[in-house]
Amino acid sequence: MSGDRSIRTANGVSHLKRSVMRDLLKLAVDPDIISLAGGLPAAETLPVEAFGECLEAVLARDGAASLQYSPPFAPLRAWIAEHMRGRGAACSPEQVFITNGAQQGLAIISRMLLDPGEPAVIENIAFTGIQQVTAGRGADVRTVNVDPALGVDVSSLEKAFQLEPRPKMAVMVPNFHNPLSATMPAEARQTAAELAARFQVPIVEDDPYGMLRFEGEAIPPIKAYDQDDFVFYLGSFSKMLAPGLRLGWIVAPESMMPQITVVRESMDLESSTLIQRVVHEFIRRGHLQVHLNEMNALHKTRRDRLVAALKSEFTTGEHWTEPQGGLFVWLTLAEGIDSWALFEAALAKKVAFIPGEAFAVEGGHKNCVRLSFGNVRTEMIDLGVARLAQAVREGALAR
Ligand SMILES: Cc1ncc(COP(=O)(O)O)c(C=O)c1O
Repeated sequence: MSGDRSIRTANGVSHLKRSVMRDLLKLAVDPDIISLAGGLPAAETLPVEAFGECLEAVLARDGAASLQYSPPFAPLRAWIAEHMRGRGAACSPEQVFITNGAQQGLAIISRMLLDPGEPAVIENIAFTGIQQVTAGRGADVRTVNVDPALGVDVSSLEKAFQLEPRPKMAVMVPNFHNPLSATMPAEARQTAAELAARFQVPIVEDDPYGMLRFEGEAIPPIKAYDQDDFVFYLGSFSKMLAPGLRLGWIVAPESMMPQITVVRESMDLESSTLIQRVVHEFIRRGHLQVHLNEMNALHKTRRDRLVAALKSEFTTGEHWTEPQGGLFVWLTLAEGIDSWALFEAALAKKVAFIPGEAFAVEGGHKNCVRLSFGNVRTEMIDLGVARLAQAVREGALAR
């Protein structure tokens, strides 16, 4: 895993030359390795049986129509609009565009709003897929600070928006941020929406983790505060139902749908007719809420176990986030630790994580790591953290 991982542009912003995530996802499926690496929801709760029943029912009901090309499935768009309204954001079915997941939403909106060389704002610690659609496309990237507890710092955002030329878009993950797990408070969301309108900078609100809350009160999305249509909301069924479905959505002004359709057609024609119908059937039968309850309960158990293990193994000033949802804990180790070297040492001990630097848009954060508690068997967490702590101690002795 060491070696040539990133390209650094003139303004010091790096982007990934090869997909670290893909390399690491391969590890997540090696049964010998305790993987705290991939951002995967708990496999045990993926609803195989209920989904199978819905699949059969849809094929029996819709026959060949479920296997044809077809326009977006209207009942699914209607449900998504209702779901968005339930979360506090005004939304009609005509404002919903079905995608193959949030990453496709990021790709579509960034192609629509941003040309290479133009300015874009992203968080200084950002999911690699966000780096790919901005720095990776040659954008002039400006970063804003993101706090491990409170998410995007809105005064940093205001400064980035003020700069001329004005950014063409700003991407942020307000709920259970990947990798920090930070969640923006309601006031910051409102301020972000107001800044977008004041400076006419569209915000792309990337929200795959919003429904993965297992504690505390849900906070309305930034889109709920968007009076002037400057927020594009990206939703996804990946984490809230199953990543393998490859299904998500964009909420955008109805007037922009033709433009979004044209950009999407340059990538693929449409999302799976069959999967849209089966997901809708799954929801119609009331399975989604049951699934969310089960999955979030298991994630909470695993978060608790991970935090308890960190408390007992790391007692010399290391610190970590304790999220109320999502999939990640961000662990900050002692200064001077290089988490890429630690990654190799930990892998030799059969435990995997993602080095923090992979998310650090301007470099740094070498002593940080992202740990995912979603898809690691609960009873393996203590051993995984013990191995990690041992690798840290051995590394410290060797330095
Ligand atoms: C912040 C963020 N955005 C987007 C995605 C991609 O989601 P999807 O599977 O819906 O394409 C991920 C996946 O991990 C993510 O963490």
